[in-house]
Amino acid sequence: MKKVVVITGASNGMGLAAAKLFASKGWLVYGGARRVEKIPTEDGIHALRLDVTDHQSNTAFIETIIKEAGRIDVLINNAGYGEYGAVEEVPLSNAKKQFETNFFGAAELSQLVLPTMRQQKSGRIINISSIGANVYLPLGSYYHATKAALQLWSDALDMEVKSFGVRSITIQPGLTRSAWGDIAMDNARKNAKEDSVYLPLLSRVGGLLTVNNNAFVSSADKIAALFYKAATDQRVKGRYFNSVADKMTVWFARSHPYLFNKTLGLMLKRVSRRTEK
Ligand SMILES: NC(=O)c1ccc[n+]([C@@H]2O[C@H](COP(=O)([O-])OP(=O)(O)OC[C@H]3O[C@@H](n4cnc5c(N)ncnc54)[C@H](OP(=O)(O)O)[C@@H]3O)[C@@H](O)[C@H]2O)c1
Repeated sequence: MKKVVVITGASNGMGLAAAKLFASKGWLVYGGARRVEKIPTEDGIHALRLDVTDHQSNTAFIETIIKEAGRIDVLINNAGYGEYGAVEEVPLSNAKKQFETNFFGAAELSQLVLPTMRQQKSGRIINISSIGANVYLPLGSYYHATKAALQLWSDALDMEVKSFGVRSITIQPGLTRSAWGDIAMDNARKNAKEDSVYLPLLSRVGGLLTVNNNAFVSSADKIAALFYKAATDQRVKGRYFNSVADKMTVWFARSHPYLFNKTLGLMLKRVSRRTEK
């Protein structure tokens, strides 16, 4: 019998790459996104419309999958975006939408799959957090808050469900080529007032986020392979990183917060010198 994986945010970036990878490995894939037409339907991928901020959409999504496939082996909570902007200027309605998508969307879908996973006595919930749960950029406050919340929530959930044969796992990707950076910067521009005092900071942060050709920026395919590892590893780890550099960055930020802050400040200054040239 084919294993069943459910991937949210399968219309682009890592989610799309993961849908293709799991399908190529013989899994039955259910991909959800608002732009359902962007999810490929060849190779046994089933595309379903999904808005993770909508209770009815989440319920219909999981009910359809359980009805059709009869089981769910892995749920990958991947749908997400960055609501960038200065804390002073981001409307709280946008900040709440950020939590509705990146955090409560994942929470509701997990609630919906857990009864089935408990009954099966097996299942994995893989939560796509970010190294941005531990490291941060100015203008990313709300985004980082959602990813940090998702990570601790996942750790606590793991302790609740482990004895039922179910695991909750966190993946912490670093910067990855996808639409994420452009969407985050579009939001930052939309959230900025016309005469905003944060505009210079916005261009510096943009300079860091949109360095797509930097050697530290990963491909979506590489992160999809990490999703697959987390879904299939015999011995599950609580955290999955794409590279030693990502892991070290998190370690550095957590163990030396003051130095991390200084280093980030210097990096942003360098970007501003580069962009001013
Ligand atoms: N790229 C990075 O540097 C990076 C680093 C660390 C972590 N991450 C995280 O990795 C995950 C995937 O991001 P990505 O880089 O692949 O970005 P992406 O190319 O922008 O893809 C994001 C996906 O999320 C979906 N999505 C957004 N809002 C949704 C909603 N309300 N309901 C359903 N689907 C929704 C989008 O689909 P629709 O718009 O069609 O709905 C899209 O398929 C996100 O959680 C992101 O925060 C990204």
